[in-house]
Amino acid sequence: MTANMRTRMVRVIVGLAITAAIVAALLIWRPSGLYLWVKAVHVIAVISWMAGMLYLPRLFVYHCDAEPGSKQSETFKVMERRLLTIIINPAMVATWALGLWLAFDSGVYKAGWFQAKFVLVVLLSGVHGFFVRCVRDFAADQNQRPQKFYRLINEVPTLLMFGIVLLAVVKPF
Ligand code: HEM
Repeated sequence: MTANMRTRMVRVIVGLAITAAIVAALLIWRPSGLYLWVKAVHVIAVISWMAGMLYLPRLFVYHCDAEPGSKQSETFKVMERRLLTIIINPAMVATWALGLWLAFDSGVYKAGWFQAKFVLVVLLSGVHGFFVRCVRDFAADQNQRPQKFYRLINEVPTLLMFGIVLLAVVKPF
């Protein structure tokens, strides 16, 4: 295992440990009105996650035009890495931790709308994972995908967001 892979694995383990710690702390500490506060912070985390998930593929589209090794390309690499590590990854961890707490605290995990939302959120998380791979490919000047591909994948988080928000707010079934 390379040092790079070890660093990534440590980051994943730390992320999971933080998620578990937040969920455990919230399950133990239960002051009144907590549910609505947690829901508000969940929505704030969702907004941050989605802002990054909508902007990152736009950066990939522009990055495709930059010559590998050029100053512009190096600037895109820094923008992509910072957006991912400072905004997108922590926001996803917070969204999951708080969302799972809400689901188990209220018992809505049994509801049809929640289960459908859960499937769409898992798909969104898969797209997130794919974007992590794209950031690494660009960082190593190894991107092989055409600009058109990024223009298309750019729309996927938007479509998933429509479905997730409609299910969470309207709760149609
Ligand atoms: C990561 C996994 C997620 C889980 C487990 C989860 C779970 C939940 C739960 C249980 C609620 C409370 C529902 C209620 O009290 O009626 C909620 C609220 C909400 N969630 Fe999530 N959620 C997740 C991700 C997301 C994502 C990705 C979005 C948007 C793209 C989202 C948008 C919302 C909204 C807008 C509300 C407020 C609904 C309302 O009160 O009317 N959630 N979520």
